Amino acid sequence: PSGRTVLVTGGAGFIGSHLVDALVEDNAVRILDNFSSGTPDRVHPDATVFEGDIRDDATLSRAMDGVDLVFHEAALVSVQASVEEPKRSHSVNLEATLSLLECARREDARVVLASSAAIYGQPEYTPIDEGHPTEPSSPYGLEKLTIDRYARLYHELYGLETVALRYFNVYGPRQAGGDYSGVISIFLEQARNGEPITVNGDGTQTRDFVHISDVVQANLLAAQTESVGAAFNVGTGETVTIRELAETIRSVVGSDSEIVHRDPRPGDIEQSQAELSAIRSALGYEPTVTLADGLQTLVEAT
Ligand code: UD1
Repeated sequence: PSGRTVLVTGGAGFIGSHLVDALVEDNAVRILDNFSSGTPDRVHPDATVFEGDIRDDATLSRAMDGVDLVFHEAALVSVQASVEEPKRSHSVNLEATLSLLECARREDARVVLASSAAIYGQPEYTPIDEGHPTEPSSPYGLEKLTIDRYARLYHELYGLETVALRYFNVYGPRQAGGDYSGVISIFLEQARNGEPITVNGDGTQTRDFVHISDVVQANLLAAQTESVGAAFNVGTGETVTIRELAETIRSVVGSDSEIVHRDPRPGDIEQSQAELSAIRSALGYEPTVTLADGLQTLVEAT
């Protein structure tokens, strides 16, 4: 997109801040963030900052005033926190998103929103296509499923241009921080500190790790597509076991950390892998960063 007025919610966070970086040159970019897990140092200096809680209607409404395009990345991203405090996570992840969709209706703005592979729950088959049954196993997954459906419904009922992107396991620079991070940033820190690398269970579980730059690519394509009212997986279609991941990170870092196995994490997803035909054909998305390259650059750059 270019020449647009764009709002990135969660623009000081991991995914949001990378999106801002990709947009600022050609667009007037705003961010809305309460800096609960996002940090000011991640915000591009050319972005206009609206500081506040996404649940605050006045703040949200001001940030949305006059926008053409919204990337909605603000959320409580910890699955565990959603299990502990479902009402809190519901209010941020679901209710605030509904308010945002209402503002978007007023502005007639396109909304690209962050959905999640968590909506599928324990997969019945892999690779997981968008038609796979949705049986979320956490409040977080249920909230993401609901906003993913609302996005489609707002298109059907009001003609709003919406696209939901179902992220698989996203990784890259700036992910660490706050009380929550993905396994790659945890393993990286353990390997660098020479601490034991903690694999949950036997490590045979698989994940589809997608580099942040490909997530940005998917968002930029979603901002332009004619395929609105739809939801797309965002991954690589490739998988790795968590045990292999631990070994790769140890060798890329050049660490002598030992790899230890802990009890399996209750409810842990066994196999995860994105099926990408839909996003390939509708958006022209093509993952560009292999896990090997993504890990290499992550280690070099951070
Ligand atoms: C990820 C997302 C989550 C999303 C879900 C959708 C992240 C951080 N989380 O959860 O938002 O809802 O996909 O399917 O991207 N592990 C270890 N040792 C550790 C930490 C983790 O072995 O110290 C294992 C976990 O048990 C799991 C795998 O690594 O098997 C990935 O864990 P994690 O990074 O927390 O992501 P998901 O649980 O897949």
